[in-house]
Amino acid sequence: MTVLGIETSCDECAAAVVADGAAMLSNVVYSQIEEHRRYQGVVPEIASRKHVEWIDGVVEHALADAGVHLDAIDALAVTTRPGLIGSLLVGLSYAKGLAMARNLPMIAVDHVQAHFYAPHLERDLSYPYIGLLLSGGHSLIAQVHNFDRIKVMGATIDDACGEAFDKVAKYFDIGFPGGVAIQKLAEGGNAAAYRFPRPSLHKGDHRFDVSYSGLKTAVIHQRAQFHDPEYQDTLPNLAAAFQQTAVDIVVDKALLASRETGIDCIVAAGGVAANTYLRRRLDAEPVRTVYPSLKLCTDNAAMIAGLGYHLLARGERSQLDTGARARVGEFRARYP
Ligand code: KG4
Ligand code: ZN
Repeated sequence: MTVLGIETSCDECAAAVVADGAAMLSNVVYSQIEEHRRYQGVVPEIASRKHVEWIDGVVEHALADAGVHLDAIDALAVTTRPGLIGSLLVGLSYAKGLAMARNLPMIAVDHVQAHFYAPHLERDLSYPYIGLLLSGGHSLIAQVHNFDRIKVMGATIDDACGEAFDKVAKYFDIGFPGGVAIQKLAEGGNAAAYRFPRPSLHKGDHRFDVSYSGLKTAVIHQRAQFHDPEYQDTLPNLAAAFQQTAVDIVVDKALLASRETGIDCIVAAGGVAANTYLRRRLDAEPVRTVYPSLKLCTDNAAMIAGLGYHLLARGERSQLDTGARARVGEFRARYP
């Protein structure tokens, strides 16, 4: 079954053609980074308008790259949650139009669930593993037992990990997207210059949760309080200390999850998984680590088409009155 995937949940306009949930015939991603750079953050109104402008060309590009005509597509898979509602609606409306015009089956796909499926598109990866999803919109630690059997162990109670990078970078005018800019600046810095507090959320069922608003506030408004006078109070030192604390917060929880469950493989995905300090830290631990390639780590439509295939193959279909859902938190409620 050849599935055309469509992904427009945030600021990436993406389409991909995947055969039988495995063979990526194409994986086209048009990033809107340049459209949002001057605002140092994604502007929802601009994001949805750009998706409207681009989606048709992006789908054509994906079909051309795959070397297939629309006639060869058996079904459509589209992200319907979570994300920016206006952006989600563009991809969903486009998919509905195509489904109706071509009489094609359509399946709604959860973006977070698809992120956990992404590594299977490029390697034989056996279940279970601890999935660590760290991006601008999500911070999740989960046991992944199958494409549809996921147990969320922890999540952020406030900002997402990547969001903290973005907000700190925006405040200090370091660059956009924040994660890459902070990592670069941190290379010339010394993390020992500040001792930032780490949240202590270790109660019962919430012991795997993380929090970033305290760290963000400390870095932005209270740096003097946490500065070690033996070192200079500079932006590179600040970037290094923030990066180390932000990564340690979530890596420590992932390692705790691994120890408690006895699952000794950690798969890190999402934009923050590209962070070199994060990889160094995880790789130093006695666990197996898997990082999808950057193209599959960040938002893409191949993961939507890949997961969509498995849902379609077991007979699921979405109707043309399917709606989009914005809220990130609902994923945890569905996969407790
Ligand atoms: O997965 P992604 O491309 O998009 C979604 O948010 O879904 O992730 C983007 C996030 C941004 O917050 C960005 O600052 C962060 O990932 N990021 C990084 C790095 N590269 C991207 N954070 C830390 N270190 C990096 N090298
Ligand atoms: Zn994402």
